[in-house]
Amino acid sequence: MSSNYTFTIIKPDAVKSGYIGEILAMMNRGGFKISALKMLQLAQSEAEAFYAVHKERPFFGELVKFMSSGPIVVGILEKENAVEDFRKFIGATDPAEAAEGTIRRKYAHSKGENAVHGSDSDENAAIEASFFFSTSERF
Ligand code: RTP
Ligand code: MG
Repeated sequence: MSSNYTFTIIKPDAVKSGYIGEILAMMNRGGFKISALKMLQLAQSEAEAFYAVHKERPFFGELVKFMSSGPIVVGILEKENAVEDFRKFIGATDPAEAAEGTIRRKYAHSKGENAVHGSDSDENAAIEASFFFSTSERF
């Protein structure tokens, strides 16, 4: 059985461009309920830890630098089938390949700086949510 939540990040590019409100509203309209939310900036070491699964990939250095370059908004979103539905809702990693109407199609400009993150499995949603939120910060 799939769990009913996913974890998201509004990435530094989208925060810098002033899209926090529009992106959160779009998530709500898409049927995702916000059950945890905060704004923070990752230290480089924290970005390395969060993206440890990608450490052998050629873009790892760039990714860590980008994700720690400015404030981000992290959140937990509830919906039935949240992980899979949210991946569809944000669109492909490369905004040029993202479907019409998706968050990345609308707000992202490149494959590296692509506006939002969405967990890729229930297991990772649980790991990522607890990376950022204590139980008293989850509703
Ligand atoms: P995310 O984890 O952020 O939701 O994105 P994703 O699953 O669609 O993509 P993933 O393969 O997990 O990659 C994580 C993030 O790394 C950056 N990236 N850059 N320059 C590149 O070729 C490249 N490929 C990936 C993106 O920020 C991507 O979201
Ligand atoms: Mg991913």
